[in-house]
Amino acid sequence: MKKLGTARRVSWSLMACLFIWQGGEALAASPPVSYGVEADTFHPVKAQHGMVASVDATATQVGVEILRQGGNAVDAAVAVGFALAVTHPQAGNLGGGGFMMLRTASGRTTAIDFREMAPGKASRDMFLDAQGNADSKLSLTSPLASGTPGTVAGFALAAQKYGTLPLSKLLQPAIDLARKGIVVNDALADDLNVYGKEVLLNHPNSKAIFFKTDGTPYKKGERLIQRNLAHSLSLIAQQGPKAFYQGEIADEIAGEMAQHGGLMGKADLAAYRAVERQPVSGTYRGYEVFSMPPPSSGGIHIVQILNILENFDLAKMGFGSADAMQVIAEAEKYAYADRSEYLGDPDFVKVPSQALTSKAYAKAIAQKIDLAKARPSSEIKPGKLAPYESNQTTHFSVVDRQGNAVAVTYTLNTNFGSGIVAGKSGILLNNEMDDFSAKPGTPNVYGLVGGEANAVQPAKRPLSSMSPTIIAKDGKTWLVTGSPGGSRIITTVLQMVVNSIDFGMNVAEATNAPRFHHQWLPDELRVEKGFSPDTLKLLEAKGQHVKVEPAMGSTQSIMIGPDGMLYGASDPRTVDDLTAGY
Ligand code: GLY
Repeated sequence: MKKLGTARRVSWSLMACLFIWQGGEALAASPPVSYGVEADTFHPVKAQHGMVASVDATATQVGVEILRQGGNAVDAAVAVGFALAVTHPQAGNLGGGGFMMLRTASGRTTAIDFREMAPGKASRDMFLDAQGNADSKLSLTSPLASGTPGTVAGFALAAQKYGTLPLSKLLQPAIDLARKGIVVNDALADDLNVYGKEVLLNHPNSKAIFFKTDGTPYKKGERLIQRNLAHSLSLIAQQGPKAFYQGEIADEIAGEMAQHGGLMGKADLAAYRAVERQPVSGTYRGYEVFSMPPPSSGGIHIVQILNILENFDLAKMGFGSADAMQVIAEAEKYAYADRSEYLGDPDFVKVPSQALTSKAYAKAIAQKIDLAKARPSSEIKPGKLAPYESNQTTHFSVVDRQGNAVAVTYTLNTNFGSGIVAGKSGILLNNEMDDFSAKPGTPNVYGLVGGEANAVQPAKRPLSSMSPTIIAKDGKTWLVTGSPGGSRIITTVLQMVVNSIDFGMNVAEATNAPRFHHQWLPDELRVEKGFSPDTLKLLEAKGQHVKVEPAMGSTQSIMIGPDGMLYGASDPRTVDDLTAGY
């Protein structure tokens, strides 16, 4: 890879050797953001005209090819999204939902919400057992687990309003991949072997696709053909989203539900709409932040935490210092406590977005943060503990040669969703209903505790943490990022921002740096391997309950340098992902 010369670095360093005055106090200037100079620890992928970063190499190549053919970032993102439904069935989907953040070259930002909706027959206590306890089997692996999918409507809306190519062209690579087959990679082979056995094997339609006739899942290097999925994709290419929401595919989904006691019916599918929303926006040390509004909690809490952090000199504390980690962890606790109380579908509940993202509120929280002593979560808000789950959602980022930028995070919720393929559609259905609060105060699969604002209601969208995020600098798009990871999405994206802005890391360094996470409940500071044991001891001494746990997140990010070059990085925590450009 060609590296940038050191001369350029010197000039950027000089520019950054200023002191920033904030709130009357002098903060040490953050180190200059690096774009991959020779001396850097990790190097981003570099391209001039367009770039795609996704969890799957084949899907990334599909997107780059669309960009090469003259498609814009939205075209490429939609083609990547459809391709992932074939190549990455763990989370890529037609039967799930998600969010798209778009910032056009002219600086207009918009957010497309294609989150699933609860079926019309859903009810508040539908996931409680006879004793009144939340039954996670019902909300995760039964036909009741699925909300009405939004992905097809979301991609169709994006392509029609902001794309330049016909939907049929954007679907063609996915159709070809499903019809001719994909070579199973490490990631899919591993997940089929672990999660596939748990959730797919019990369902004959799913088993017939992902397991061979000898009853074993497809292995690395074997060819996986998905004929029924190819047929469904072709129907959408020929008839548009109508095929999914009113036509043959709707019949298959509704038929599957009716046969096995699910609630989603044809009326739910016909009524589904993707909607455009105003992104949550904020500022952080002079940068503009745009992220996903409710029904995601991501945007509000990323802005809220950044607002709190602005009151501290993180650059001076340094990356990986116990003080910086203490401040960030304490800020996260307050934000996740608020999440449990105030966040829900804005079409149903009044979310106090402005109050939560105000600088004044953040300052009041910052004043409560003690650098020397962690506040126990029980003093912030009481709740119960639950285990964490692994990464299941997926994120991809795209930037085109005009400077249009797209960040998409979408999901089936947990790996392979409910595990149920609807009839002959070849489409895996989500288990997003688990993101509702089955019982206020009881944690979901991510250990997140929710309140009344996120109780199940017909046609409501469950609260999400997915946070496709775009940062602008001097009015120009600068960083496009996002991640899977359930409750850890918010803190993973937050660390991409803080690592880049406060610690001057290039996009690869910001991606590779070890991560940590606090979500208020459980009261533990989850850290990846790689932090100094001295730092962890200091954090323990401050009262943090440190727990070293497996990797968090899988960011797929693109940064635009001052020279207009694109610098991207896929997450080393994930195998088979790829950032590529031309
Ligand atoms: N299903 C995970 C999320 O939306 O946050």
